[in-house]
Amino acid sequence: MAKSYSIAVLGGDGTGPEVVQEGIKVLKAVEKRYKFKLDLTDFDFGGDRYLKTGEIISDSDIEELKKFDAIYLGAVGHPDVAPGILEKGLLLRLRFELDQYINLRPVKLYPGVYTPIKDKGPEDIDFVVVRENTEGLYTGMGGIQYKDTPNEVATQIMCSTRHGVERAVRYAFDLCRKRNKTRTLTLVAKTNVLTYSHDLWWRTFNQVGDKDYPDIKREYAHVDATCMWFVKNPEWFDTIVVSNMFGDIITDLGAMIQGGMGVAAGGNINPDGVSMFEPIGGSAPKYTGKNVINPIAAIAAGQMMLDVLGEKEAAKTVEKAIIKASSEKLKSMSAGKMGYTTTEVGDMIADFAATI
Ligand code: IPM
Ligand code: MG
Repeated sequence: MAKSYSIAVLGGDGTGPEVVQEGIKVLKAVEKRYKFKLDLTDFDFGGDRYLKTGEIISDSDIEELKKFDAIYLGAVGHPDVAPGILEKGLLLRLRFELDQYINLRPVKLYPGVYTPIKDKGPEDIDFVVVRENTEGLYTGMGGIQYKDTPNEVATQIMCSTRHGVERAVRYAFDLCRKRNKTRTLTLVAKTNVLTYSHDLWWRTFNQVGDKDYPDIKREYAHVDATCMWFVKNPEWFDTIVVSNMFGDIITDLGAMIQGGMGVAAGGNINPDGVSMFEPIGGSAPKYTGKNVINPIAAIAAGQMMLDVLGEKEAAKTVEKAIIKASSEKLKSMSAGKMGYTTTEVGDMIADFAATI
């Protein structure tokens, strides 16, 4: 019998639903070809629903989502909702409650795609960032005292646990081994300033590496220097492991060198549970409803979802189809400059994925 996967589809805000729709076209193309079955269920969580009902996501919704094989997410963020409400209430809540402790973000420049880095090509820009996804500055620990007085005090705690750091580090070592590229894992941190939190990272990285991964070369780079190396020598990186906030920041830079937000995808992974896949570019309100946004990041997120679900061949085919479109057809990866509309790009890649 054909394998079947239940997928929760959360289009979300802004251009999220538009790009997810194109991703689904491509998933349908390979579903037919590779004879598995995707059972899709739509959910309307996001800014519009919140503005209408005051509700973001309930405890029972979360319990329901835990029953799916994967979640396919468009974008979270609405111009009429104050910053933090939807991000914390939906995106971060899902990452935390589903214990998606890895945020996996490949930085891979496809042939024919423009990178602003002069003299660097696809052979130079091909690494993957393993961002810890449930700790660091994102836990919400801290608070405000004496609010709106001259004595106001605000703290935001960077929380690292041995358990949380170790599982991220182990995931990254394993992935580096599996990639089998230069077999180099780089810890990106700030050990010269974050002498508690990142000391824990440093010790864990080295202890785990010494004990269980003697075949993997270890490197270290401060996060500020990493921003410099991303631009100057991106070819130095194979696999990176990094704490939550720094990972957030460097992967936006990573997205730019791989061709922009239009192509960058990420997976919020719980290796033993429900993972969630998303284009990392956000809701792009100014492009909403214009049929101009690039759906490739969402399609690539769908590709990652297939890969994690175990449909490896289908995932490879989707990647080939993306590469064919980006190298042979699209004029640019930027919204409005592709030479095609959002839906045309989705149709094209779905067509390639069915036949390539
Ligand atoms: C990301 C985003 C989120 C993050 C925001 C929307 C909370 O920037 O996925 O990179 O900071 O993780
Ligand atoms: Mg980000």
